Amino acid sequence: MLAPMEGVTDFHMRRILTAIGGYNRCVTEFLRVTDHLYPDRVFRRCCPELESGGCTRSGTPVYLQLLGSNPQALAQNAQRAVALGAPGIDLNFGCPAKTVNRHGGGSSLLRTPDVIVEIVTAVRDAVDASIPVTVKMRLGFDDSSLFLDTARQIEAAGATELCVHARTRNDGYKPPAHWHQVEAVRQSLAIPVIINGEIWSDSNSHQARHDSGCRDVMLGRGALSRPDLAVQLCKSAGQTDHRVMQWPEVVELLQELLATAADLPEKYAGNRTKQWLTYLRREYPSAQELFERVKRLRSFDEISREINQHYTSVVQNNLTPGGVPV
Ligand SMILES: Cc1cc2nc3c(=O)[nH]c(=O)nc-3n(C[C@H](O)[C@H](O)[C@H](O)COP(=O)(O)O)c2cc1C
Repeated sequence: MLAPMEGVTDFHMRRILTAIGGYNRCVTEFLRVTDHLYPDRVFRRCCPELESGGCTRSGTPVYLQLLGSNPQALAQNAQRAVALGAPGIDLNFGCPAKTVNRHGGGSSLLRTPDVIVEIVTAVRDAVDASIPVTVKMRLGFDDSSLFLDTARQIEAAGATELCVHARTRNDGYKPPAHWHQVEAVRQSLAIPVIINGEIWSDSNSHQARHDSGCRDVMLGRGALSRPDLAVQLCKSAGQTDHRVMQWPEVVELLQELLATAADLPEKYAGNRTKQWLTYLRREYPSAQELFERVKRLRSFDEISREINQHYTSVVQNNLTPGGVPV
């Protein structure tokens, strides 16, 4: 699965990454619910895939992610999302952002499992039994003492699936992810448990699955730093024949992402492309070089020209994934 990443995995990114392959599912950015029902246009903006059967162009289902602490309001909005065509609802109990937590949403709810249970129950009851209601959580807020009990209650409340980002809220994004701590939950639940956190490579994926006992993984930043990581994992599971993506192909994806920003106000046009380069440079040294060249550029045309020039030069020099000439 492709992890939800606010401000990153928008409609365009979901389309680009799922088209490469390897994903069974992805999730929208979050829709933050307070106490009212959103008008339909808000759901369509959050999930443009609603216009195409709730799937990305390559056919990957997109679950609509809700974040909030009001069970009734979340249930109402979940019902509406499903009526508009969402193939599943994903509930966020992992977001560490201070503003979100101050309003009682995301990972702060891990301190009050009763509210989590109310939310899952209300959302489960509000949508047809055929619609998956998935939950994403961390190990806990300060520590993982409530983790097993909370996970059991989430299952009892009717969640279809549980994804665990194997860190507490206090861990933030600091490595390592504690995959082994998910093992007891995986053993005690009948619903699928999905392991997430710090999976950047095939060997990380093997280790995470080994330590947690989970069959499935959710990829976050790893999917951004290696756009074909999911296919690589499928390849190692013998499901596909895949050649590691070369840097010029990645630059083509950057060009594709940039093209989606052509109509944005100038000051935003290159933001997502620059952001992606900051993830890509973990795997591709050439991404750092390109980032240095575009980071101060503002206009769409300047950024586009720079990336196109870079593309021409790497294709001519026939660079390997790391940016080293073969
Ligand atoms: C920029 C960013 C935005 C994120 N937004 C969300 C979100 O909206 N909902 C959510 O459940 N998790 C969110 N996450 C957490 C990721 O889904 C994932 O759990 C986390 O990054 C750990 O996985 P990774 O180590 O593979 O990146 C976000 C993470 C990042 C880096």
